[in-house]
Amino acid sequence: MRLLFVGPPGSGKGTQCEVLSQKLGAPHISTGDLLRAAVKAGGIAGRRAQRFMSAGRLVPDRLVLRLLEARLAEPDARANGYLLDGFPRTIQQARSFETLPGARGFDAVVELVLPRPVVLERLAARGRGDDSKHSVQRRLDIFERVTAPMVAWCAERYPLIQVAGDRPVEVVTAELLRRLDALRNPVAEPPTATVGPGTGAADGDAPEPRR
Ligand code: AP5
Repeated sequence: MRLLFVGPPGSGKGTQCEVLSQKLGAPHISTGDLLRAAVKAGGIAGRRAQRFMSAGRLVPDRLVLRLLEARLAEPDARANGYLLDGFPRTIQQARSFETLPGARGFDAVVELVLPRPVVLERLAARGRGDDSKHSVQRRLDIFERVTAPMVAWCAERYPLIQVAGDRPVEVVTAELLRRLDALRNPVAEPPTATVGPGTGAADGDAPEPRR
């Protein structure tokens, strides 16, 4: 499967991708994780990225695209697709993604919806390096101002699944699996030409969805 996960910081994109990666067999690819690995590796690119990340700003596209292209070229992504988390974040990045080697669009865009106060509470409790009040505020502003229009742009091209993220992790996962299953196995239209006694369809019964 090829899925894009979007949502404000702290909405649970990474958490859900980890669980769904196990269940769907596609790798979780997070540009945030790729950038944090680059920071840890300590090269020039990593040091540059860190300045943007600590301030809650977007890292320049060139650096993010380079890391993502390399990750998409790995065998698991080539064979099994991807659960992409954190990229694209802008319409410009979405356009770049369309031409990136190894990228093959999305079966669906999954948006985790979370009210601002819950985001602030969750990230204050997590305390990652870039979870300072100032950085979270800026990441939220960027999400609303820049990423939300990108989500609308993607929704014109791919099916959009919106799920409330302010519920227990397993409840969110269960709903996501149900909605993805419905997307992959849409309930068939009741037959019209062969309606007749004993078919059940005449009584308005819809066929059971395939599992
Ligand atoms: P990134 O790592 O992508 O951060 P983010 O989008 O701000 O998202 P988070 O990782 O904070 O949250 P999440 O939605 O994954 O939630 P999580 O599962 O962790 O990016 C970091 C930075 O990298 C950016 O600010 C930018 O600088 C740079 N960057 C990344 N991609 C870029 C790009 N494309 N272009 C340019 N720059 C880029 O959960 C959060 C917390 O909530 C956890 O503690 C978790 O345990 C908890 N939690 C999760 N789900 C639930 C639940 N249902 N109930 C209760 N608690 C929950």
